[in-house]
Amino acid sequence: MRTDTPPTIYRKDYTPPSYWVRTVEMGFDLEPSATRVATRMTLERNQTSNDKVLTLYGEELQLVQIRLNGKVLGTKAYQLKDGVLRIPTTAEQITLDIETLLQPDRNTSLMGLYVSNGNFFTQCEAEGFRKITYFPDRPDVMATYKVMLRGDKKKYPVLLSNGNLIEQGDLGDGRHYALWEDPFKKPSYLFALVAGQLVCQEETIKLKSGREALLQVWVEEGNLDKTQHAMDSLINSIRWDEERFGLELDLDRFMIVAVGDFNMGAMENKGLNIFNTKFVLANPRIATDVDYGNIEAVVGHEYFHNWTGNRVTCRDWFQLSLKEGLTVFRDQEFSADMIGTDSGRAVKRIDDVRVLRQAQFPEDAGPMAHPVRPDSFVEISNFYTVTIYEKGAEVVRMYQTLLGRDGFRKGMDLYFERHDGQAVECDDFRAAMSDANGRDLTQFERWYSQAGTPRVVATTVYDAVHKTYAITLKQSCPATPGQKNKLPFHIPVAVGLLDSNGNDMQLHLRGFPQVQSTVVLELMEEQQTFVFEDVSEEPVPSLLRDFSAPVNLEYDYSDADLAFLMAHDSDAFNRWEAGQRLAARRLLALTATAQQSGAVLTTDPALSESLRLTLNDAALDPAFREIALNLPSETVIAEQMDVINPQAIHQARRFLRQSLAQALRADFIEAYKANQTPGDYSPDAASAGKRALKNLALSYISELDDAAAHVMAQTQCDGADNMTDRVAALGALANSTAPGKEAALAQFYQDFEAEPLVVDKWFSLQAMARTTDVAAVRKLMQHPAFSLKNPNRARSLIFSFCNGNPSQFHASDGSGYAFWAEQVIALDAINPQVAARLARSLDRWRKYAPSLQSKMQAALKRVAQTAKLSKDTKEVVGKSLA
Ligand code: ARG
Ligand code: ZN
Repeated sequence: MRTDTPPTIYRKDYTPPSYWVRTVEMGFDLEPSATRVATRMTLERNQTSNDKVLTLYGEELQLVQIRLNGKVLGTKAYQLKDGVLRIPTTAEQITLDIETLLQPDRNTSLMGLYVSNGNFFTQCEAEGFRKITYFPDRPDVMATYKVMLRGDKKKYPVLLSNGNLIEQGDLGDGRHYALWEDPFKKPSYLFALVAGQLVCQEETIKLKSGREALLQVWVEEGNLDKTQHAMDSLINSIRWDEERFGLELDLDRFMIVAVGDFNMGAMENKGLNIFNTKFVLANPRIATDVDYGNIEAVVGHEYFHNWTGNRVTCRDWFQLSLKEGLTVFRDQEFSADMIGTDSGRAVKRIDDVRVLRQAQFPEDAGPMAHPVRPDSFVEISNFYTVTIYEKGAEVVRMYQTLLGRDGFRKGMDLYFERHDGQAVECDDFRAAMSDANGRDLTQFERWYSQAGTPRVVATTVYDAVHKTYAITLKQSCPATPGQKNKLPFHIPVAVGLLDSNGNDMQLHLRGFPQVQSTVVLELMEEQQTFVFEDVSEEPVPSLLRDFSAPVNLEYDYSDADLAFLMAHDSDAFNRWEAGQRLAARRLLALTATAQQSGAVLTTDPALSESLRLTLNDAALDPAFREIALNLPSETVIAEQMDVINPQAIHQARRFLRQSLAQALRADFIEAYKANQTPGDYSPDAASAGKRALKNLALSYISELDDAAAHVMAQTQCDGADNMTDRVAALGALANSTAPGKEAALAQFYQDFEAEPLVVDKWFSLQAMARTTDVAAVRKLMQHPAFSLKNPNRARSLIFSFCNGNPSQFHASDGSGYAFWAEQVIALDAINPQVAARLARSLDRWRKYAPSLQSKMQAALKRVAQTAKLSKDTKEVVGKSLA
């Protein structure tokens, strides 16, 4: 047992490997309880290295034999300690044979080779390959792979690995084999194999160059009626990357495989993407509009990795955002282009920013805050974060904002021209952007090295005599762990000015040519003033249009200014933003009131009138109206408070929703009627937008919790012909006192018992219902369908409660925290990665009132003091308590 603290790995300690691996040949004899793996690798000394040792990594492996150039290595010829295998050697060329024995059926970590529902799968990113064999398991070591799979013919009729199928055949004795070869050199984290009883939908398409490619989506039997959307999304992704970036699929065969037990969303293994079923399976009966959108995005994401991640990969794991931030940006752009309309793009942008604010801003302000390119980590799995992914995508987006679409494309082209086939750093990407455009992006580097969400405070002065309008921007950035003082960032601030009619003014920024409506100010100093000339009247500024930088922008808008922007801004993002600012203001005031005993909450007619205009504005897309009528979440409000009071926030938000429901009831009923989508279900953006607005109306009306509302929800629940409408109605019932609530929940379960992804929804909506307390969650855990071992199921109930039901989770008696500690500890023994995610739920504990703080601290300590805790969870709770 390891009792010492696990070591911290530093970026500054990077050294190149002493050996390159050129080729890898592997043979797998697949047996759930004892899989034999024979690996032969040829290695070549790295001439630049002085290290006289070949270093390989291995975890939880039974080592059978090592042969060096054909000769068995005795135990004295190497050192094996703490998962590191050291072989002293300086030979130029080496052939190494390693035989290992694995127990995939006992692998509950879902890293390396594991069994799910009787089939074999792998997950090797980041450091899972070392659970298959000893290997220089680091992304800068790239080799070509040839993989032989052998297994029982009946149990494992399908045998898949990366690249091309070279040969297959019978072995007699009921077993068969398949030989795969991947012509592209790759790091070990992109290795994959799949074996089992699976079926596929396939299609052959012609690529832009005229080459043909075979596309397959593999699923368990019985799920072939749920693969069409993933296939369509894959084809659209291929087309989009050809069009937008001139990047073509480089393989003859591209496979997607769905698995029900998976730690994350999906994995971009070369030619053999492995997906959580949640991001593959869809039909109208089981998937919501949001699911359809997520599937499109994740299929795109993994496909786009083929260039941004696989052809050009990361030198080390500190560069993770090089591939993840860039690939998220690419999938965001892909999804936006798939909607196609300007307003659809804006809604997608708003959605993405909502995720950033809901999850990344709190991360960046908490104990796990880290730069987009971290300087250190204990467990790399803990750094697959919203900062690496979503903030990383914002950083990439800023290049496009600064350089324009064409300039960004030039940078991408140069990046591939320079680095195809290489393992590189974030700095190489920045250099390509800079060199391709002749732009100095030196200061831009701070987006990679400094953590924390910058704060930009704007002030304005209008000079009526000289007709000038000056905008002063002042930036700062809060301290984050290990980074006390920050240097100024290079921040693109897109700005427009509205005249009194609500139209965009022509903008004449001093020293620059006149532009039509939006100008990107480049804030580089701590404080800078930008002067606009020929400004005929005092404008209302529209700041940070389209959310041009991941910052908190503050400006002293009056309520009237915000209502004006809500009604007129040509920038749809800022129209939405103005409404959010107004609503957040009300919510913060109501929360303050709710904290005083005996205080009475009061309504605000001005806000409801502004929202009424938006709700009824037929010129606006239903999808936009829906997103605009959605109040800032409890988490977003919490982040804006000095001391978080979850119950007061909940009470305030509920009150505001109820008063809006009262004030706008007739309008909501009208919207509900006007946005029906009769006929066959289609997940297209226009139909999805209508359903979203209709279901938003239903959720507001349901806040009134009266008989009429109950009937409405019950009717929709009973009559729904698609999951979007059904689950929206069931959610409304679950949050109500409707007499039919329990029966509706029971009926839903009965109807969808056989669909694990729908059962997840059933757990999740109950976990987040406002009356669900810890006792109710414990009771749900007793349900036969619940299991801690399946990550999706654990997330659907436990994570949904701890992260999605703040007022109950933060119950004043601390019962939520005790429950959390228990579940983190139980999960840690099964699956450290999933446990460490749950461990993040108390990240912000220092922001709560002292009475809650002490209970959270006690729960964190209880976890920290648990024996045999994984380094994953140890790192998270350790940093929280630090
Ligand atoms: N590269 C994968 C994806 O984005 C994520 C895999 C991470 N897996 C893990 N076990 N940490 O797209
Ligand atoms: Zn990714």
